[in-house]
Amino acid sequence: LEKLLRPKDLKGLRVLMTAGPTVEAIDPVRYISNHSSGKMGYAIARAAEYRGAEVCLVTGPVNLPLPHGVEGIAVQSAKEMLVAMTDRMDSFDIIIKVAAVADFCVRNTSDHKIKKNESTPVIELAHNPDILASLGQRKRQQFLVGFAAETKDLARYAKDKMARKNLDMIVGNLVAGTESAFGSDQNKVTFFYPDGNEDALEAMPKDKVADQLLDAILLRRASHV
Ligand code: CTP
Ligand code: CA
Repeated sequence: LEKLLRPKDLKGLRVLMTAGPTVEAIDPVRYISNHSSGKMGYAIARAAEYRGAEVCLVTGPVNLPLPHGVEGIAVQSAKEMLVAMTDRMDSFDIIIKVAAVADFCVRNTSDHKIKKNESTPVIELAHNPDILASLGQRKRQQFLVGFAAETKDLARYAKDKMARKNLDMIVGNLVAGTESAFGSDQNKVTFFYPDGNEDALEAMPKDKVADQLLDAILLRRASHV
């Protein structure tokens, strides 16, 4: 019933998204990753599909079912996610980058399982490519949305990322302490725009945040074109 009552206000729009963590291999059985559950990104994908969009979700490993009607592309590492996104970006109208991309990958990945009686291993890290920044450089008509997970100075860091990565909007949320969004069904976010406007939302379930975000994107796109 809920689905039937929703307006199909995203009909005709193609939405490309990422969600979940990336995982960076140490050896064939071990990896570096983060606490992202994928819930926020999956909620947005589900809401966009409900509202009539064609949705492609590039997803790191998560414990969630792919929402009905959404095309899923499974990736592991940030480099795989970068390829999946750049290959597809040209044919989409809206790109929403929710994934918690690992900032570092392992430089000295071992192709065999590291044994405990070997000498203590040293894991060397290298920077991963910034996927969102490269989408920002290459975008044309697409409306590009990023997320910023911060433990302090939310507005300053979020606005800085929006400018640096050439975004049309950024969703900031604090990930420290009791308000942490990781794994939670609730989220408290602020929308920031390049013109300096911002909109601080109350704490609400992630599916409500998803609909608020899609409303905001539609409104902004309308005033852009
Ligand atoms: N992001 C990305 N590629 C990366 C790192 C981040 O595409 N290698 C994207 C995330 O998906 C998110 C946005 O950039 O939409 C902000 O991610 P965040 O981790 O908050 O910012 P960073 O630029 O990585 O900076 P830092 O972690 O140092 O705060
Ligand atoms: Ca980061």
